Amino acid sequence: MCGIIGIVGREPVAGHLVDSLKRLEYRGYDSAGVATLEPGGVLTRRRAEGKLRNLEARLAKEPLVGLVGIGHTRWATHGAPTESNAHPHATARVAIVHNGIIENFRELRDELIAAGQVFSSETDSEVVAQLVDHHLGAGLSPELAVAAALKRLKGAFALAFLFPADDDLVVGARRGSPLAVGWGDGEMYLGSDALALAPFTDRITYLEEGDWVAIRRGGAVIHDETDAVVARPLTVVSASAFQVDRGNYRHFMAKEIHEQPEVIGHTLARYIDLAAERIRLPATLPFDWAKLDRLTIVACGTAFYAGLTAKYWFEQFARLPVEIDVASEFRYREPPLADNGLALFVSQSGETADTLASLRYCKAHGLHTAAVVNVPTSTIAREAEIVFPTLAGPEIGVASTKAFTCQLVVMACLAIAAGKARGRLSEAEEHTLVRALGELPGLLARALKAEPKIERLARQIAKARDVIYLGRGSSFPIALEGALKLKEISYIHSEGYAAGELKHGPIALIDETMPVVVIAPHDRTYEKTVSNMQEVAARGGRIVLITCEKGAAEASVPTLETIVMPDMPPEIAPVVYAVPIQMLAYHTAVFMGTDVDQPRNLAKSVTVE
Ligand code: AGP
Repeated sequence: MCGIIGIVGREPVAGHLVDSLKRLEYRGYDSAGVATLEPGGVLTRRRAEGKLRNLEARLAKEPLVGLVGIGHTRWATHGAPTESNAHPHATARVAIVHNGIIENFRELRDELIAAGQVFSSETDSEVVAQLVDHHLGAGLSPELAVAAALKRLKGAFALAFLFPADDDLVVGARRGSPLAVGWGDGEMYLGSDALALAPFTDRITYLEEGDWVAIRRGGAVIHDETDAVVARPLTVVSASAFQVDRGNYRHFMAKEIHEQPEVIGHTLARYIDLAAERIRLPATLPFDWAKLDRLTIVACGTAFYAGLTAKYWFEQFARLPVEIDVASEFRYREPPLADNGLALFVSQSGETADTLASLRYCKAHGLHTAAVVNVPTSTIAREAEIVFPTLAGPEIGVASTKAFTCQLVVMACLAIAAGKARGRLSEAEEHTLVRALGELPGLLARALKAEPKIERLARQIAKARDVIYLGRGSSFPIALEGALKLKEISYIHSEGYAAGELKHGPIALIDETMPVVVIAPHDRTYEKTVSNMQEVAARGGRIVLITCEKGAAEASVPTLETIVMPDMPPEIAPVVYAVPIQMLAYHTAVFMGTDVDQPRNLAKSVTVE
């Protein structure tokens, strides 16, 4: 979603603000802007629709030289992505940038208009500038004006403020959206995440929920939501958190697909002891697998499909009943929760608003909470009782790839641990499953070898208007994920179905123009899926079969293409079969010339409802 940066510096900051915003591009945006205090305390803004290059062009023509400033990439929620709706929003006394949604903006806007404030945009964000301006007009200091305004705001947000009256001050606030303070040498920074601050410092303080902060060249004073001054820890962020280089790849997504053998290896190293062929989890867990009545998995998008795959594992390995829902539904249906339940939240970013709200709902109802999260410093990671990190490294492409397979691997390990603890898996079965997991990096490397064939196939898929994905059992969520990947980056309409559901409706769509991607490892439902393929073939549908060597040898159906994965134990197939569907979506999108890493309308981290 939107990205925020603020700098109180010793040299002109406009260029640094833009550099930093570039590091936040992956979050998704459709306009951008910066404001600095020019000599004499004149607050000056440059804003532009579209990509950051437009803002850079504007700055090249009309440079800014101020030493203190704020910057923003905006992902439109209220109001079109126009220049006048772009941030910073400003009055004569304050400029602000905002990430999130101000839920009570209409009420505040009416009140402020009645009090004489004059609005110039359609955004919910401007209400924050007008509210702070109103308090400044009443004689409050900048810090007190912000503190007073924060008490009136409802919703989830991160904010940064700049004041013409003080050229040694940027104020920041977080409620629901992340914000970090960067400590420099005689300079201070604010940013949506450590990545944004990477060019300047590795010394970071993450603000807690409800905090607000005043940064000056000499340091930062942090307040909690009651306005009391508080100390928050300073973290030195590891270099790996800053690895955002595309390397030799054309897109981050391609790099991230190819990183999977390595990051799956890292993740496995954390959760399995290969020598002993055992799962290795923290010695003390806040819950007892053996006593759980139910596991509730909650997530959004790709992370939800990872959870759906894990449902098959938890049920099969541990006989643990699993309820799973998308977070946007879960949080509002107020589900009854099991007394002895564990709620598991899956999120790459750890900041997804609906997933976070669901976590808070479960916590409030006394459930044990655990999170599978890729960003260890994120809000979900900090608020869950226990975190099982995915070690995928920073994922920049909006379409999630390596985080998905790492989520799968972590949850496979959890399901095996649960099976063992519940007496449903023997030691020998644990050994067999762990050995299979240990083969994943090598299997993933072999799966990547199918790329040239998939690239050729993508040219055909690119001509389709619609594509259907089919899978059974744990291949069903992979079919759903394949369809999501394709639609989000190529904009081709695609749907995933459980193969057995075909006859219950979707088969009506099949004709000779319809590619049907069938994910069918040679497992116990393979024969059934072959029957479904025959039904498709009989209606002229063009089948793309993704199967293993054994499955390919036995498939008796004409295909447009057969993509062959290595033979492997069926339990780990979802992790490996994710790779060809990612590559198919990627190459189709590249062939169509879309913006692969930042597809239209999408944001990497969905911090609004
Ligand atoms: C996946 O490709 C997505 N762009 C999206 O569905 C994503 O998985 C979802 O928004 C959840 O994000 P999270 O994992 O950061 O919570």
